[in-house]
Amino acid sequence: MKKILIAFCLALVFTQNQAQEVALIPQPEKLTLGTGNFSISPKTKIVLAGSGLEQSAKFLNDYFQTFFGFKLAIQKSGDFKNNIVLNYEKMEYPIPGAYNLHINKEGVHIGGDNATGTFYGVQTLIQLLPVVKSNNLVVPAVEIEDRPRFGYRGLMLDVGRHFFPLDYVKKFIDFVAMHKMNTMQLHLTEDQGWRIEIKKYPKLTSVGAYRNGTILGHHPGTGNDNTRYGGFYTQQEIKEMVKYAADRFVTIIPEIEMPGHASAAIAAYPQLSCFPDSSTKHPAKVTWAGSEQGKQVQQAWGIYPDVFAPTEYTFQFLQDVLDEILPLFPSKYIHIGGDECPKDAWKKSAFCQQLIKDKNLKDEHGLQSYFIQRMEKYLNSKGRQIIGWDEILEGGLAPNAAVMSWRGEKGGIAAAKEKHQVIMTPTGWAYFDYSQTKKEDSLTIGGYLTVQKVYSYEPLPKELAADEVKYVMGAQANLWTEYIGNPRKLEYMLFPRLSAMSEVLWSPKASKDWNSFEKRLQTQFKRYDFWNWNHSNAVFDPAAKAVEKL
Ligand code: ACM
Repeated sequence: MKKILIAFCLALVFTQNQAQEVALIPQPEKLTLGTGNFSISPKTKIVLAGSGLEQSAKFLNDYFQTFFGFKLAIQKSGDFKNNIVLNYEKMEYPIPGAYNLHINKEGVHIGGDNATGTFYGVQTLIQLLPVVKSNNLVVPAVEIEDRPRFGYRGLMLDVGRHFFPLDYVKKFIDFVAMHKMNTMQLHLTEDQGWRIEIKKYPKLTSVGAYRNGTILGHHPGTGNDNTRYGGFYTQQEIKEMVKYAADRFVTIIPEIEMPGHASAAIAAYPQLSCFPDSSTKHPAKVTWAGSEQGKQVQQAWGIYPDVFAPTEYTFQFLQDVLDEILPLFPSKYIHIGGDECPKDAWKKSAFCQQLIKDKNLKDEHGLQSYFIQRMEKYLNSKGRQIIGWDEILEGGLAPNAAVMSWRGEKGGIAAAKEKHQVIMTPTGWAYFDYSQTKKEDSLTIGGYLTVQKVYSYEPLPKELAADEVKYVMGAQANLWTEYIGNPRKLEYMLFPRLSAMSEVLWSPKASKDWNSFEKRLQTQFKRYDFWNWNHSNAVFDPAAKAVEKL
């Protein structure tokens, strides 16, 4: 009897040891460990107990196939016992994205408040699976009740400076979804490239999507690679991208920059400039590739003074562009940029000065406000809302605009006080193009943003009163790509900082605990490795830590 008992205990310990330790990111609102495990094998079935959950089942099954080499049968009805049941569940505090996850030795049951919630329950289940290939996937018994803290959980990708093809953008969307984030802003137009097919203006891509070279090294560079560079998404590809994102409950917000960062559009259609006949300028220290005659797509980073002229030609152009953008992107919000628009050309232009007088505007900032408000009116008439970078506050905010606060939190605070929706994305916590250590192996734009600092971020500023904080929809991390030209580098810059931002945006403020997060990050790194997602190791690297102290 004693021997049997010992064998039983050993077997228990052995099977328990097989289960993945519970180290979830983002940390759920409520988590209770149960006793025992459930084993998922190729014989387990996914039972869909509610309608509209097919995408979650498919995501989970694709995950099993990709990482464990088998798929499960998906059934509309079936035994709840010994299977994975995807369902809906009534919540005490209903909120889109909330879910409950129950695992015991009789199976897995996921109940979402809505289909999004069930999808996030699937994401949590994925984090409970082993991080080695097996066909006996032991998951620990748990009871989880979980829901997001913020409704807007964003990540921006700049495809203007460097272009990432559709297949990789799909992987990027998986990064977003698997961190329980729900919005991807796609920065589609830049001085260095226009990245989306617009049928009415074919030169936007035949001319504007390519530059004749790219600077080498840090701006203004040590030379030029003299290599034509570019790319763009066809409208068909965009449709595929938007559907792929929607299947993962990710909304893509397109950004069409105006009135600044317009060099690529102007290279394609010079009439968009205040001075169509003058050639494109660049800083004297930039080594240029190819022709310097006429309008050119920029080859170095930075801010350029040749911006959209506020003419009827430009407004018609932008409306035509948006007429093709809107059917592709069903998002409520359209990002119109609005940042970093030098006023040099508008100051020199007789047309702009006359317009300022005719419209009774105060100055060029008033003219920018007029520009944005006109575009807002157009987009509102099509049932959409605009988002702009915080410069759109200057000269007067458009009546219904949401503000993305990037130059610190000042803009966001001012906008919330004016009762405008706000998304926080301050450089000091949310710019993932900044260095993660003081000794990066490869070039970055500069700055310094550790994973600890990202984790410390609190999106609701103390300066806002209780009836003002409600305007803060959430926050967003931004991945500008001046110095990010390939997927491995992109992932290195993103991870693990995205894990930290996901917890800031999802988990209750009261549960914030760096020591707990750092411990869970060790398991997250095993997942990143298992998924073949590159990441920075700086947070666990004694050498990097030593440099921090210098
Ligand atoms: C920005 O970083 N220019 C929004």
